Amino acid sequence: MQVNRRDRVQAETFNLAARLDELLENLCQVEQVSREVFELRVDPACKARFDRGHFEQVLWNLCRNALRYSQRLPCSVRLRALTSDDGTTVLDVSDDGTGVPGDAVQKLFEPFFTTEEGGTGLGLYIARELCEANGALIEYKRAIDGGACFRITFGSSDES
Ligand SMILES: Nc1ncnc2c1ncn2[C@@H]1O[C@H](COP(=O)(O)OP(=O)(O)OP(=O)(O)O)[C@@H](O)[C@H]1O
Ligand SMILES: [Mg+2]
Repeated sequence: MQVNRRDRVQAETFNLAARLDELLENLCQVEQVSREVFELRVDPACKARFDRGHFEQVLWNLCRNALRYSQRLPCSVRLRALTSDDGTTVLDVSDDGTGVPGDAVQKLFEPFFTTEEGGTGLGLYIARELCEANGALIEYKRAIDGGACFRITFGSSDES
């Protein structure tokens, strides 16, 4: 298992839509799933500041989780991002699965919490560590249709 260490953060500012598009292409090839399953609705002006490897690791896990629980229909997994007036960029990864049961919500980001046979239960734990190391916040909320939604709120994308 490759864990990108949080003490080696090489933050860069990048265009979110372009980076996500590339990531989805790769993921769909590896997972042998139609690109249609993912809906990418990201404001072309959205930028994020994050270590490239860390970003891929976080998104890869969120998208693979979402895919696993989704119905795998067109647009079953939705990636949406917006930058608000104060410059804060928020990315939501949501799916049309059954969501996370109430008693599991507080355990989601704990190390080794898994309901999957063969799962490590480290994906979300590492995602939270990496987000924190990159000045971002990751949280769970329920999607409107009852599925799961994971929200990343990025730190400032100023290069300073
Ligand atoms: N989109 C989702 N819908 C429903 N439950 C989820 C979703 N994402 C995560 N979970 C729950 O959170 C648990 C922990 O997820 P995490 O990514 O940390 O580990 P994992 O996916 O079980 O293992 P691994 O990442 O090694 O494959 C999952 O086992 C599942 O119970
Ligand atoms: Mg996982």
